[in-house]
Amino acid sequence: MAALLTGLVSSTLYAQRTRQASLSAEKLAASVAPFFAAADLEALEDPLNNAAADAGGRILLIDAEGKVQLDTLSQLEGTRTSVPEAVTVLSGADSRSYGIHPMNENDHAALCAAAMVYDGEIIGAVLISTPVTELRQAIQEVESQLLTVFIVVAGAALMAALIFAFTLTAPIKALTRTIRRMGKGDLTARVDVQTSGELKELADSYNIMAEKIENFDQSRSQFVQNASHELKTPLATMKLLLENLIYQPDMPAELRAEFMQDMNNEIDRLSGIITDLLTLTQMDAEQTPLTLKTVDFTALCEETLHALQPAASKANLTLDDHLARNVSLMADESKLSQVVYNLIDNAIKYTPEGGKVIVNLHTDSRQAVLSVHDTGIGIPEKDVPHIFDRFYRVDKARSRETGGTGLGLSIVRQMVQLHGGEITVESASDAGSVFTVTLPVRKGDA
Ligand SMILES: Nc1ncnc2c1ncn2[C@@H]1O[C@H](COP(=O)(O)OP(=O)(O)OP(=O)(O)O)[C@@H](O)[C@H]1O
Ligand SMILES: [Mg+2]
Repeated sequence: MAALLTGLVSSTLYAQRTRQASLSAEKLAASVAPFFAAADLEALEDPLNNAAADAGGRILLIDAEGKVQLDTLSQLEGTRTSVPEAVTVLSGADSRSYGIHPMNENDHAALCAAAMVYDGEIIGAVLISTPVTELRQAIQEVESQLLTVFIVVAGAALMAALIFAFTLTAPIKALTRTIRRMGKGDLTARVDVQTSGELKELADSYNIMAEKIENFDQSRSQFVQNASHELKTPLATMKLLLENLIYQPDMPAELRAEFMQDMNNEIDRLSGIITDLLTLTQMDAEQTPLTLKTVDFTALCEETLHALQPAASKANLTLDDHLARNVSLMADESKLSQVVYNLIDNAIKYTPEGGKVIVNLHTDSRQAVLSVHDTGIGIPEKDVPHIFDRFYRVDKARSRETGGTGLGLSIVRQMVQLHGGEITVESASDAGSVFTVTLPVRKGDA
């Protein structure tokens, strides 16, 4: 670009010079031709000297053979000249010719030749030589200035490109580093991206995903920890009972029978936990597809209430129900039955003697709503958000008495969600609880 521009500038300046020089050379040639033809060189000497002084250069008159007839510096008279410009015009190839020639190391001269024509014949040439050192210096200056400007511009462009590339790749590099860290097992790795736009969005989404993976990993190990703990407790109890039986062979038969009964209970409890765990993990892995069919929800509630009636009576509780007739929906019967069972079972377990448990079922065109009320111990506000978590129990000591593991509600919620429904709870300490399950009644179900 710089070269192109300086080339343009210098050729424009030279062209201007050429036009001026050629015009004055032509004029001069026309005016001196008659005198030259008449070989009246003396008459020309003064005007030519003046003209040379005006132009700040030197003028030569050359005859048709190329011999210098007059030199305003009086040096070359009588010599033959082979200046290309003069040769060109004398040969008739052109009426004028122009060129720049070096004079010595620093100086250049512009030579301009014009043909002297007399009676239609070329009788010689006028050659004007003017120094162009200044012009060349000016051009060189322009050249160097342009070059400086272009170096600065190119440098700035390069810097800008580097900065741009850096800002673009830095977040990607940061993201790659974090992904590698995470790949090596550091789940706490997060990207810190300062940019905005798409890359920030990408980094944010990545961080959200990383957060979820970390939480998932934590809850999984928590789950395994809790599960092992829950399984260990009945095993420890059984070992204790068994050791008693082994080391006291002469134990009274009654006590022995009681120990055996306790062990049997522990085994029941153990297998109950294992069944729950299996149910949960199968639902997690989506290995248990719902076997949907039309279920008479009213009948299902009645059966469950019937099954739990003895437990309620034993605990001295009133079990009441208000069930809408013929509520049917598309559902997996055994899972739905577990939902109802667990909720009523909890209500009975966590309601002290003399209390009340009421089961309501009603429906509209879109959904069936089952609610289980109790007048029991309730759930403290701080525990409410957690009661659907696996192994979560409000009062561990108390639920051990009742044999709870804290898996019931998490199974219930998962089953309800599998059916596209939702479960909510309203409760407070000592104020009883209401668990409400809403299930969609699909078109054509009712
Ligand atoms: N109706 C209720 N009234 C008061 N607290 C309840 C009620 N239902 C559940 N809870 C509290 O929520 C906890 C979790 O209930 P969940 O049914 O998941 O476990 P669980 O009954 O202890 O054991 P599991 O049902 O696995 O045998 C219970 O331990 C209890 O503290
Ligand atoms: Mg329960």
